[in-house]
Amino acid sequence: MKTALITGVTGQDGSYLSEFLLEKGYDVHGIIRRSSVDFRERIAHLEGKPHFHLHYADLTDSMSIVKVVGKVRPDEIYNLAAQSHVQVSFDSPEFTANVDATGVLRVLEAVRACGLEKTCRIYQASTSELYGKVEEVPQNENTPFHPYSPYAVAKLYGFWIVKEYREAYDMYCCSGILFNHESERRGETFVTRKITLAAARIAQGLQDCLYLGNLSSLRDWGYAKDYVECMWLILQQEKPEDFVIATGVQHSVREFAYYAFKHAGIELKFEGEGMDEKGICVAVSGNAPASLVGKTLVVVSADFYRPTDVVNLWGDPTKAKARLKWDPNKTSFEQLVQLMVEHDMAKVAGEGAAAKVRMNLVEYLEKGIVK
Ligand code: NAP
Ligand code: GDD
Repeated sequence: MKTALITGVTGQDGSYLSEFLLEKGYDVHGIIRRSSVDFRERIAHLEGKPHFHLHYADLTDSMSIVKVVGKVRPDEIYNLAAQSHVQVSFDSPEFTANVDATGVLRVLEAVRACGLEKTCRIYQASTSELYGKVEEVPQNENTPFHPYSPYAVAKLYGFWIVKEYREAYDMYCCSGILFNHESERRGETFVTRKITLAAARIAQGLQDCLYLGNLSSLRDWGYAKDYVECMWLILQQEKPEDFVIATGVQHSVREFAYYAFKHAGIELKFEGEGMDEKGICVAVSGNAPASLVGKTLVVVSADFYRPTDVVNLWGDPTKAKARLKWDPNKTSFEQLVQLMVEHDMAKVAGEGAAAKVRMNLVEYLEKGIVK
């Protein structure tokens, strides 16, 4: 039985990767941080399983990483932990660098300190954000990097230190340069999930309007569940190498919003330009309220613009297709939007029903019916 250690196990990718590795028969260890709210929604269904173990550690704390690596002695480490929000990295650049840059070095050094450098394979969660202010379209493994946020600059250090340790110490460590990947487990402040949740809430009368930033930004969006397989495949190759993982298909934030609202029963028409652009409801279907027709449901707000924004990400997955035998189009853009909206329609309906029960209970209490 192989042993894997996952940093960032509570995140979107960490949760899918844990499921994937458990299914492959791995003993899976994850590191978690202490938080005042012990609510690990994405991995709650795995806790208590015989081959799933959690350890407290933090990527900003070298000794804690050394202790876990020494105790678990993993065959494979998947370093997914990061302050992963690009906009937040402008507000917390030092913390972002500490986790996303120096944190990678700490993991590599922990492996060496534990004498595992010849046996333990390391996957580093690298990113298409490295291409930043892009110098060619689409982007492949040979495209020059031009990071364009504190997050991307920190991740660039992570990428190069992994390459350096591969060459200097002959370690099996490599980076997956993953383009955006989304899912029903995506954090709620990333643009896709923010849109699918808002579309569901607006369609169910629980929200009036959605405020977004740059609608023209272009992304190559894939499904996170498909992408974790690549992380594993990258570590199963004969030689350690870096790979671009992407779908090869590009869409704008505006298009994502259009299709998400459509799946929620709301037809949008975008009018105006830049900060004055608006998404107006022109028709409804299904259970969406007819009263939405004619209303402005998407508004552009300066609050969601970034000091520097990456606007043209489009990956070329040729190498991954050929060498990893991976299918980048397993889940299409349309299927991705649909599955996220369907999930959020059900989630919002559940929340709405629970809120109604609470309201009824408050009413009963006020009337003295229930004591
Ligand atoms: P995510 O949902 O934001 O998860 C990030 C994980 O990192 C969480 O488990 C978080 O723990 C953990 N973490 C943050 N700071 C930590 C620290 N100081 N010590 C230990 N753990 C820490 O991110 P994701 O979308 O799953 O992405 C996984 C990785 O891939 C990240 O490195 C991200 O930068 C990279 N990436 C993501 C994408 C994408 O489109 N999703 C694309 C390219 C690269 P808490 O739960 O305690 O906060
Ligand atoms: N978050 C957010 N919120 N983004 C918005 C909004 C909004 O209201 N409105 C427009 N956008 C635009 C952003 O300016 C950006 O150009 C694009 O939507 C995507 O933003 P995010 O969903 O926040 O993702 P990201 O591309 O910046 O970063 C994600 O993907 C990277 C891979 O390219 C993260 O998962 C990173 O960790 C990852 O490395």
